[in-house]
Amino acid sequence: MSQAILKVNRLQTFFRTSRTGVFQGHDTVRAVDGVSFEIKDGEVLGLVGESGCGKTTIGRSITKLDTPTGGEILFDGRDVTHLSASRFRPLRRDIQMIFQDPFASLNPRLTIEKTLIEPLYIHKLVNSRAEARRNAVAMLEKVGLDSTVMDRHPHEFSGGQRQRISIARVMIIAPRLIVADEVVSALDVSIQARVLNLIKKLQREAGISMLFISHDLGVVRHISDRIAVMYQGKIVEMGQKQQIFENPQHQYTKRLLASILRVPTLEGTHHVN
Ligand SMILES: Nc1ncnc2c1ncn2[C@@H]1O[C@H](COP(=O)(O)OP(=O)(O)OP(=O)(O)O)[C@@H](O)[C@H]1O
Ligand SMILES: [Mg+2]
Repeated sequence: MSQAILKVNRLQTFFRTSRTGVFQGHDTVRAVDGVSFEIKDGEVLGLVGESGCGKTTIGRSITKLDTPTGGEILFDGRDVTHLSASRFRPLRRDIQMIFQDPFASLNPRLTIEKTLIEPLYIHKLVNSRAEARRNAVAMLEKVGLDSTVMDRHPHEFSGGQRQRISIARVMIIAPRLIVADEVVSALDVSIQARVLNLIKKLQREAGISMLFISHDLGVVRHISDRIAVMYQGKIVEMGQKQQIFENPQHQYTKRLLASILRVPTLEGTHHVN
């Protein structure tokens, strides 16, 4: 854990929105407003903050789903901020995103087998159908499903199982960085910890770096090495997990901590001084 796989310097991502009616015109939403952080090889950085503070926009800017207004994004030392779609394409294997809603990333018409082998073909990682199938079976087992599900379709699974499939689909191509955005938020609390543990285990085994986004500090705590706390488009505090929990500096972090105080968390009830 030494080299930074991702460096984000003074990132700004603004949106222009239209107003109608008497006061018609344009507004600028400063969704991300001067954010800097880095993620080291094999590290999980948790990004936490209330709804609308700009977390998803950071994730989407890194993965090129949103266009940054300013600042720079360096992947493995290379400036990727303004790469065109075609120049960014080779990096698509290295930088992957997992979303809250697995339905959005799983094609309902594809069987689980096709869902898993498609990315292997897209990124030219296998030489034969048999090899692709072997990889798919091995990956399914890693996420706690077995090969009997290969011929089924996404709608035939529970939310937790579906999220396991979308995790498998991302992990199967061995990316170097994963942006995980609210990946357990739609799941029952009873299932959240199991899916989080699965992600953590696979991430560790493969040495993948991760930006783990959640509005839930308890969830972020479970999985992160370091935590960045975001408020209104800016990172207001960042540090080792323990430091954030035991010695928060910013007023907003203290408020976030207070909100989970004495509420049962994924790791059991905990107390803040
Ligand atoms: N495409 C867009 N056009 C205009 N405004 C946008 C767009 N995307 C996001 N925003 C605005 O940017 C701000 C940050 O949104 P973002 O989705 O990044 O927040 P978030 O922290 O992920 O919130 P949540 O926890 O609810 O997912 C919000 O005010 C949002 O309305
Ligand atoms: Mg979001």
